[in-house]
Amino acid sequence: MQEKINKHINDIQSINIVTAEDSEKFKKTYLSKSGILNNLFLEFKNLTNDQKKGSGKLLNNLKNLAFNKIVNLEDSEKQAKRKKKGDLTMPGNYEKNGSQHPLTKVENRIINIFNKVGFTLSDGPEIEDDWHNFSALNMPKHHPARDMQDTFFISIDPDTLLRTHTSSVQIRYMEANKPPIRIISPGRVYRKEDISARAHCIFHQIEGLYIDENIGFSDLKKMIMYFIESLFGKDARIRFRPSFFPFTEPSAEVDIYWGLNSEADYRITKGTGWLEIMGCGMIDPNVLDNVNINSKKFSGFAFGLGIERVTMLLHQIDDLRLFFENDIRFLKQFQ
Ligand code: DAH
Repeated sequence: MQEKINKHINDIQSINIVTAEDSEKFKKTYLSKSGILNNLFLEFKNLTNDQKKGSGKLLNNLKNLAFNKIVNLEDSEKQAKRKKKGDLTMPGNYEKNGSQHPLTKVENRIINIFNKVGFTLSDGPEIEDDWHNFSALNMPKHHPARDMQDTFFISIDPDTLLRTHTSSVQIRYMEANKPPIRIISPGRVYRKEDISARAHCIFHQIEGLYIDENIGFSDLKKMIMYFIESLFGKDARIRFRPSFFPFTEPSAEVDIYWGLNSEADYRITKGTGWLEIMGCGMIDPNVLDNVNINSKKFSGFAFGLGIERVTMLLHQIDDLRLFFENDIRFLKQFQ
């Protein structure tokens, strides 16, 4: 008897049930009243106890195998029918979500940090005029400081250009609002620079402007320290360096320590180990006069920080070009 059962087990395993007809035929052959399974059970009844021992388990295996074959088929038929009808309870096919660009993420973090201490957002156009980008910022025509920022002019019109920094938004805001002022303005800026691991012709800045009565350099320094500690933690190594900008006096630049171990560290930091992230200073009284703010009564500070630089420091990214190539393998790491 065992031999017979084994043969049926083999048979069933090799049977392929695809259509409803196959299924009917299978049921009739194996599972009906006069089918193979019933007959085997009848036969089994008449065996002696000794003979039953080996066959009982095997017979049950055969029975399970036969029934499972049909149950599986019925399940997949049901699913196919539900799918055709568009069953809303079926699990959906999920598309992978995209993610925010790392620069956007860091920009939002910076905005949050300044929001907490009362700065609101303000923005201005990327196509600017000479007055807002240069002249009002204490850089009259032919001022050598204009060479610090190689400019893209629009067409042949020397008055229309792509803004070289977000400092132009300071002017626009001060023209339209009276102190006290506390704003930040993030945005894209353009410079005619050779593209390298450190520089690009497009990049992003966040400008900050704070004007009130009795504001001094200590207020500026405190605000910058608050910002850097919020973003980089208390252990960040920072240095303030004296610098020059036509629109601030005194002026400073702020560096954060990057490291100096690899060849890439030398390239990124020009061999110093430090990366500059912003320029800042006390607003030059000439600038306040240009926008009709009383420079005897009010003073303030401004800063402009590079979002790419900050993001590079936060994530140890040693090539600025990665931000603009939009290689999915790079972007995925920031999901
Ligand atoms: N606009 C400067 C630049 O792009 C950065 C800067 C320096 C902005 C000093 C400021 C400032 O507001 O006070 O290089």
